Amino acid sequence: MNGKTRIGVLTSGGDCPGLNAVVRGVVKSSAQLGYDCIGFLRGYEGLVDPVSYTALNHKNTTGILNQGGTILGSTNKGRFTATVGVSDRVDLASELLDGVEATIEQLNINGLICIGGDGSLAVAQQFHERGIPVVGVPKTIDNDLSATAFSFGFDSAVACATDALDRLHTTAASHDRIMVLEVMGRHAGWIALHAGIAGGGDVILIPEIPWSYENVCHKVLHREAHGKRFTLVVVAEGAELPGGALITQDDTQPGQVRLGGIGERVAEELERRLHRETRTAVLGHLQRGGPPTTFDRVLATQFGAHAVRLVIEGRFGEMICYRPPRIDSVPIIDAVNKLSRVDPLTAAVQAARALGISFGDLPADESPFEMAAEISTGLAVGSGAGNAQPVAV
Ligand code: F6P
Repeated sequence: MNGKTRIGVLTSGGDCPGLNAVVRGVVKSSAQLGYDCIGFLRGYEGLVDPVSYTALNHKNTTGILNQGGTILGSTNKGRFTATVGVSDRVDLASELLDGVEATIEQLNINGLICIGGDGSLAVAQQFHERGIPVVGVPKTIDNDLSATAFSFGFDSAVACATDALDRLHTTAASHDRIMVLEVMGRHAGWIALHAGIAGGGDVILIPEIPWSYENVCHKVLHREAHGKRFTLVVVAEGAELPGGALITQDDTQPGQVRLGGIGERVAEELERRLHRETRTAVLGHLQRGGPPTTFDRVLATQFGAHAVRLVIEGRFGEMICYRPPRIDSVPIIDAVNKLSRVDPLTAAVQAARALGISFGDLPADESPFEMAAEISTGLAVGSGAGNAQPVAV
């Protein structure tokens, strides 16, 4: 050991565009200060037997700013699971924490920067409680962490979904079809809401606003009455069916269900009720791949540099966050297990309603702009994510 300050960094959980930009931000800003950097491989798994890491420097982080994925690898499965669902804490095995502590000591790590979503940050919190010097960086395409206005990855996912809607628009119009686009987001409707607005969607179905087939059909017919013979429906994977059920791919791991399949369900039912040709597109992991947008590059770079600052200042147990216009920090404990979901009264929802976009909660001719606030106030919004009954497809 040469006595230099040494920073460890890892990426954990599902990947998203911008992870490499954070890693590069950490490495470059550390190098400016003369610090060493070590990248642990495959998320938290790299911290314990068999410990796997690589020295990070200018040379091996050059050119990664615009690269999707993570050069360090990641996993959202395995030994490090500190939550079940969105709120229940699972204590990590104490021998696992012993192993992490030993690695940090043996490698003389002065600060460990953990880049991850809610579940990964819950692990970081347990490291902090053990006295391991840890700092968090929030990541998720879902934008569902309440402590930060935006997480990097979200803007890139929205850009991908918007591009898909642009493409679906022309083919839907050519064939007079209803097109249903299913997007990710888990129990939050942010991706669907933003992409639906940016991509000119006609109907947006999100987990936060209960909807009915009658109202969606009414919107389709209302459009036809105004000469529009096609309709674009954007549905969030976590939107509940009118009966309150979630559509999942499997329910083998309680609390950790894989969402997906609602797009096809909605399309089938619309076709059955309206006798209009209907097609579905499921965007899936395309939303997670590819280069980050410029917004995400800037945000991720700032998160990387400010995470190093937190280490220098000894602010362990804190997580970087974006509170426009400030890059700030909060205790990790205050950031985890608190989902940010779409408030039906939010300006974006009201603007969408003003344009005539349907959320499936009202007949198409009953949502004028001036009524938006009143309408939204009357909505019965689910009290928390994941309360609905899962249904496997
Ligand atoms: O949390 C990010 C996310 O992409 C969700 O939007 C989606 O439900 C989930 O991860 C998919 O996870 P996996 O990559 O394990 O299929």
